[in-house]
Amino acid sequence: MNSLKTLSTQLDEIELANIDKLKEHPVIQNITKLDTDQFNSVLLQRRFVSHAITNLYDFAIDSNISRDCKLILRRIQREEYPEPTGNEKYPPSHREDLVHDLQLIGISLDQILQSRPSKTTKACVDYMLNKMLDYGSENSAIKTISYIRFAGEVIVAEEYKALWSRISKILSDSGYNPKNISRFFWPHIIHDSRSSFSSEMKKSKTHSSYLGFFLSRLINSDSDLGLFISAEDDALRLKRLFYDQFITKLA
Ligand SMILES: [Fe+2]
Ligand SMILES: [Fe+2]
Repeated sequence: MNSLKTLSTQLDEIELANIDKLKEHPVIQNITKLDTDQFNSVLLQRRFVSHAITNLYDFAIDSNISRDCKLILRRIQREEYPEPTGNEKYPPSHREDLVHDLQLIGISLDQILQSRPSKTTKACVDYMLNKMLDYGSENSAIKTISYIRFAGEVIVAEEYKALWSRISKILSDSGYNPKNISRFFWPHIIHDSRSSFSSEMKKSKTHSSYLGFFLSRLINSDSDLGLFISAEDDALRLKRLFYDQFITKLA
């Protein structure tokens, strides 16, 4: 391992470069230029990938990882279906929150109900889950955690940040304020966002940072670093595959 750089600095550099690669995708770069139907189609297709995330967590939880890490994965997965509160005995799931935001954006419930996953979206979901099964069969905790953290948390926050540049006017004036009525996109930007491996991750309370804390303790050699890189590459490939299906709509 390069002794001139700390491991956390290397992880940060690799990850930030990968995030830049996602941001360079033409659909992400031109998200504000898509017409309404095209943009809505991105959101509707993205919904089917979101639904598969809990399945991804199921496979990760079943894999050969430490008990402590399993507890974190269970906790993140269950947040999809929040615990009862004093005000709400049966709070809506994040999936219902997504439908709530989509309707505010202007997509009717009929459109949501009639939408179906495209061939490419189905391929993305297959790819996403199969990769996790592969990592499980390889007994690779580093790949498992790297992949679920990057594909299911870090990049998700980045995708939603890109979408937010277009939907913020409808859902909020800016940020978390009384006028912010987003129940899905904005909260996920906040609770999924990455924090730097170099900073004190314990202070950060996002899904990415919880998993990053375990990851940084698992990676101790160049070969470990190679596993992290390969899992993040796989996650990036998945996201490119998803957004590539909309490139033709960027005329
Ligand atoms: Fe969620
Ligand atoms: Fe999350």
